[in-house]
Amino acid sequence: MGKFQVISHPLIQHKLSILRRQTTSTKDFRELVNEIAMLMGYEVSRDLPLEDVEIQTPVSKTVQKQLAGKKLAIVPILRAGIGMVDGFLSLVPAAKVGHIGMYRDEETLEPVEYLVKLPEDIDQRQIFVVDPMLATGGSAILAVDSLKKRGAANIKFVCLVAAPEGVKKLQGAHPDVEIFTAALDDHLNEHGYIVPGLGDAGDRLFGTK
Ligand code: PRP
Ligand code: URA
Repeated sequence: MGKFQVISHPLIQHKLSILRRQTTSTKDFRELVNEIAMLMGYEVSRDLPLEDVEIQTPVSKTVQKQLAGKKLAIVPILRAGIGMVDGFLSLVPAAKVGHIGMYRDEETLEPVEYLVKLPEDIDQRQIFVVDPMLATGGSAILAVDSLKKRGAANIKFVCLVAAPEGVKKLQGAHPDVEIFTAALDDHLNEHGYIVPGLGDAGDRLFGTK
């Protein structure tokens, strides 16, 4: 089984509760997704490798730490994943951003891929796939399939709300992919929505419904 972690920082939990509220506006929803993504980004980048670097302070020479050469890529699953990109980029501004476009067929709940645009050297990058929702797990699994087909090997999946069904399915399909979520909810309803969840993340983020 792949590693799985709920990031339960108080600021994240507080902001997530506001995000879930039906009355939260599109503007606030967008700002909150951005803020929570930044806080998640801080936590999920804890094990980035460091290397020694010699620097000169105003006082003396000293050996300190800097991020090692490993390059990063942030890969949002469209549309809703886009809302998490800026939060991550505010921490790692030099990261490249790839896009995977996917929507769930509303009847079958199966994901349909419509766009893949990735940095050329994706096989050499530490990748953070971001999507606010991990429901059945279909979209996440197909996104990771797509990345692996193009040589990607070092992948972490970061979401805001996960259903136990989706976590289990993603862990089973890709045990090497570490999963981080801000909340593990109760279950999926008959329409594949997370309960209690926050509704349709893409629609709430972009005001399309
Ligand atoms: C949502 C969400 C995930 C997917 C999760 O996207 O952002 O990508 O559903 O569901 P799953 O785990 O059952 O695959 P949606 O298909 O609504 O597309 P959108 O982001 O364009 O609204
Ligand atoms: N996609 C969403 O946006 N919300 C859910 O609850 C499930 C899938």
